[in-house]
Amino acid sequence: AQIDKGNHRHFMLKEIYEQPIVVAQTLRSYLRPLDGQVALPIPDFDFADIRRVTVVACGTSYYAGMVAKYWFERFARLPVEIDVASEYRYRDPVMEEGGLALFISQSGETADTLAALRHARAGGQKIAVVVNVPTSTMAREADLLLPTHAGPEIGVASTKAFTCQLAVLAALAANLARARGKLDPRQEREIVRHLEEAPAAINAALAYDEAIAVVAGQIAGARDVLYLGRGPDYPLALEGALKLKEISYIHAEGYAAGEMKHGPIALIDDHVPVIVLAPSGPLFEKTMSNMQEVQARGGKVVLISDYDGIQAAGEDCLATITMPKVHPLIAPIVYAIPVQLLAYHVAVLKGTDVDQPRNLAKSVTVE
Ligand code: G6P
Repeated sequence: AQIDKGNHRHFMLKEIYEQPIVVAQTLRSYLRPLDGQVALPIPDFDFADIRRVTVVACGTSYYAGMVAKYWFERFARLPVEIDVASEYRYRDPVMEEGGLALFISQSGETADTLAALRHARAGGQKIAVVVNVPTSTMAREADLLLPTHAGPEIGVASTKAFTCQLAVLAALAANLARARGKLDPRQEREIVRHLEEAPAAINAALAYDEAIAVVAGQIAGARDVLYLGRGPDYPLALEGALKLKEISYIHAEGYAAGEMKHGPIALIDDHVPVIVLAPSGPLFEKTMSNMQEVQARGGKVVLISDYDGIQAAGEDCLATITMPKVHPLIAPIVYAIPVQLLAYHVAVLKGTDVDQPRNLAKSVTVE
């Protein structure tokens, strides 16, 4: 079928808006909601002997992998290491028996990731891939193929592939946990139920598009922007900063909220907007105290949280963006929407080429 932008001004915006559908479509092949079970498309793969997971990817796919590290450790109690593909291969990684090497890639062709895959294969690791292009080289070379069903992604900056990767990785985390005896049927049902809620929650997040466009107007003039998050939302801060720099060319950094005091706090003044990603949950209070450290130094905070979080801490912020209240498991999937939309609207205001930002390529096939 011909791929066009429909009624949208850019492919990126169209792809952002497709997320409720493509995440639901992806989850459909990983969940059996009626049974309250996770069911991977490769049922006979044996996870019981996996002793360690190594996640390798580039760019936005790497940040999806960072979120997965939190999930694999928390649910499956598996040790996880993660690296960008261009570093992994050259640092002489230790590959032990029982290692599962997991590669995440929208295209399935990124040269660094593919080279890392072959390196892990030579080291005797089991190879799993999460890819969006089922005919790609990585898909062909995998022992365990875990497809995302995001459909073709045209915008150079990845959006819908990312949230679909997260959906697959959450299902994989639950599957690993069950195979290792770390998940009882009741807990599995809970996970399935929360994942099932993701598409509607994404929809609810998209409803704030116009409000986010207004916030974009408040940060479009900045020279530097800082993003902060904790736990599984820390990779979302990194992803937010990446999106902003990719398409708006504003310098942005993502930081673990608690690490800010060890460096970036020196940058804070009233010219540096600080985007704080803080869904209510176990890490909320800690993130708020980091946010207050910013505010005490004149920093201008944009707080992205749910109604309760904004009621509790939104008062002295430059702006707030309200998200639906979701279980912490799916927060990274839902909070991807405001960071994508914020970057998008800033780029539109700056008049950059949103779908084809300068110097970037959709698929990087050189090392
Ligand atoms: C390029 C794209 C990014 C993407 C990265 C990894 O840099 O511009 O959007 O995240 O490659 O691509 P992959 O296809 O391996 O996910």
